[in-house]
Amino acid sequence: MARRPLIAANWKMHKTQQEARSFVAALLPKIRDIRDRDILICPSFPLISAVDQARKESQILLGAQNMYFEEKGAFTGEVSHGMLKDLHCEFVILGHSERRWVFGETDQMINKKVLAAIQGGLIPILCVGEKLSEREQNLTEQVILNQMDLGIKGVPEDVIVNLVVAYEPVWAIGTGRNASAKDAKDAVSLIREFIHSRYGSVAADKIRILYGGSVKPENMATYMKEDGIDGGLVGGASLEPDSFAKLICY
Ligand code: PGA
Repeated sequence: MARRPLIAANWKMHKTQQEARSFVAALLPKIRDIRDRDILICPSFPLISAVDQARKESQILLGAQNMYFEEKGAFTGEVSHGMLKDLHCEFVILGHSERRWVFGETDQMINKKVLAAIQGGLIPILCVGEKLSEREQNLTEQVILNQMDLGIKGVPEDVIVNLVVAYEPVWAIGTGRNASAKDAKDAVSLIREFIHSRYGSVAADKIRILYGGSVKPENMATYMKEDGIDGGLVGGASLEPDSFAKLICY
């Protein structure tokens, strides 16, 4: 079964509302005829409404970069899945390495977020990936499997196919040092085998697994040629409409 490619922009902590609106206005004519893949923008929280209004009736999908697992309450500075749904978000990035390593998120917290997002009707993009020191100690597979195991604990069989996983080696993020297509493919295969062992062949066949880490218009096609890589989660190269349009049209 052919999986639908997903090209996702992770804008991180960039742009004003006006810049977000201009980006979408510039992007729309460039992607008008593209219907065979999913195009997702994940802006920071204060820009979500601006992107939602600017995307109008287009095929652009909308996501957030994080959320908290509780529904509401005294959690200063956090947002819930209900708030994201209220802003028309369809996706949410969870467990991004910057959340793990800058903000101290644990696999247990990320798992609670994954379960809450699913319960709230959002599609989680669960990010996993090893640090450079872990790769150098040949711990890559162990780290990925551990993050997968803890990250999707308790996800029911009937919804696992909606989950998206992004393999993002920490050493490749924002460094210009992208993983080789073979390394990305091996990691993605490992993740798919893991899903197969837990949920069976239908789930493994349907689940989308992305690569992220210094993806650029120049290297996107080499990843997309690899069997099993279903798209990209892109930071720096998603910030300009020209560059993001080239990534979409890889
Ligand atoms: P990058 O970021 O494309 O700037 O390396 C990717 C990410 O953090 O998702």
